Amino acid sequence: MKVPLANLLCITVLASSGSSFPLERRGAAAGKEKRVQYAAWDDVNVLAHGLLQLGQGLKEHVDKTKGQVRDITIKMKVFNVTVSELGKLTQRLQEDSMALKAKAQSLEESERLVLNVSTDLREKTKELLKDRQKDHERMNKLEEKVDGLMQGEGLESANGNYSDARVIQWMLEAQNKRIDDLVERIKQQQEKMDKQNVRIRTLQNQIQMKNERSSLKRKEDDVHLNASSEQRDSPVAMASDCHELFLRGETSSGLYTIQPTDSQPFEVFCEMTPEGGWTVIQRRQDGSVDFDQLWQAYQAGFGSLNGEFWLGLEKIHSVSKGGNYILKVQFSDWRDEIQSINYPFHLNGEESNYSLRILERRAGNLESSLSTETSGVPFSTRDKDNDQKNDLNCAKQLSGGWWFSNCGRSNLNGRYFVTPAPKQRHQRKQGVFWKTWRGRYYPLKTTTMMIAPAEIENKS
Ligand SMILES: *[C@@H]1O[C@H](CO)[C@@H](O)[C@H](O)[C@H]1NC(C)=O
Ligand SMILES: *[C@@H]1O[C@H](CO)[C@@H](O)[C@H](O)[C@H]1NC(C)=O
Ligand SMILES: *[C@@H]1O[C@H](CO)[C@@H](O)[C@H](O)[C@H]1NC(C)=O
Ligand SMILES: *[C@@H]1O[C@H](CO)[C@@H](O)[C@H](O)[C@H]1NC(C)=O
Ligand SMILES: *[C@@H]1O[C@H](CO)[C@@H](O)[C@H](O)[C@H]1NC(C)=O
Repeated sequence: MKVPLANLLCITVLASSGSSFPLERRGAAAGKEKRVQYAAWDDVNVLAHGLLQLGQGLKEHVDKTKGQVRDITIKMKVFNVTVSELGKLTQRLQEDSMALKAKAQSLEESERLVLNVSTDLREKTKELLKDRQKDHERMNKLEEKVDGLMQGEGLESANGNYSDARVIQWMLEAQNKRIDDLVERIKQQQEKMDKQNVRIRTLQNQIQMKNERSSLKRKEDDVHLNASSEQRDSPVAMASDCHELFLRGETSSGLYTIQPTDSQPFEVFCEMTPEGGWTVIQRRQDGSVDFDQLWQAYQAGFGSLNGEFWLGLEKIHSVSKGGNYILKVQFSDWRDEIQSINYPFHLNGEESNYSLRILERRAGNLESSLSTETSGVPFSTRDKDNDQKNDLNCAKQLSGGWWFSNCGRSNLNGRYFVTPAPKQRHQRKQGVFWKTWRGRYYPLKTTTMMIAPAEIENKS
């Protein structure tokens, strides 16, 4: 609307000047001159009036533009405040993130907070972008208008205020650029936050997985902790004897650690048979171990569990005191014939000198080589003579420690002789013997003594 007005102005000016020149050149013709001058004055009046109107219109428009620019400035101030709030928000978020890293335990909670803040931020940014878009549109319109005004540059010298429009345009352009930068920065922040969110989530997942794994592991540890000191796996607490190991599924003979009630754990050799597990307490097979030992050695045990050994009275007592036990005595001669005898028994503790009581009198002659006195027979060694011979120390006369009653029934802890045994009787009587099997002076080739709960017999 302004452009046609400006054009009209130009045309009017040209028209008025064009009509006045020929009149001035003809200034000598006085009569005509006056009439023309009056007419020109009217023209000038009309022209001046038009110019005044035009000026007023332009002024109004500039005022309006100024008002719009002021609006925009106010909006941008608001925008500035929002941006600084956003900055603060981001700062808070970063602080939150730091605290988050430091406190992995409260991670989940903090993450929720961060997510919340991040959601807020995203919403604010969206709003901001929308506002900015609106402003941008308004500014574009304004720019168009200002551009329109600028086209009337020919009048610039007449009205210096048109240059103000250009200043405003520059200002708008600068402001526009700043807003673009800010939006770009916000976008970058947003991206950073998104990345951080992803990282937080990854960390959280890792922590969760670790927690799950460690709780799983803890459960496993609970199960294997006590079994770990055992050589073979056993599901829970340590077995109290070899038969318990057998019941837990152990089928191969060998070394195991057991722990009878009220006892420290110790190693034993388990003889696993189809019926059950036997805890071996004595073995002779090659004479590699000296069985002529004193009380303390017989109490604690000696030898090698994989070869010849005496498990020890205290250990035998601790295993067998737990219930009804049977003692299996097994021996072989030099023709490799094997004989074995089972006795239900009870072995007393140290306070009774580990006296052995055979609980059930069994019919056979074979069994009678072990005293079946109902009161029990205490253990004797060279240095602790508890036998029933007043005038004789059986352990000293013979060799090793044993439940001697008189000196002549049996001694599986005697001296080991490889055949042919010494000819002299006083030497030969020190040997390993079982009177009611191969006789008093027959040195046995191998012996094994082992114990197991009485229930094992019901299975065979
Ligand atoms: C916006 O803030 C910046 C500094 O934070 C300042 O330089 C600028 O003048 C402000 N703009 C407006 C329109 O308030
Ligand atoms: C998330 O923020 C909103 C306000 O922005 C608040 O009402 C809500 O309680 C917050 N949620 C959490 C879990 O902090
Ligand atoms: C420009 O506008 C201002 C007011 O905004 C006025 O005071 C000044 O006289 C104007 N200049 C001209 C050359 O019209
Ligand atoms: C492991 O042994 C300890 C004592 O040695 C006991 O308190 C705990 O209950 C045992 N754990 C299992 C799983 O048997
Ligand atoms: C145990 O043996 C010692 C030494 O041989 C003896 O003095 C004590 O009376 C015995 N105790 C019992 C209960 O037989």
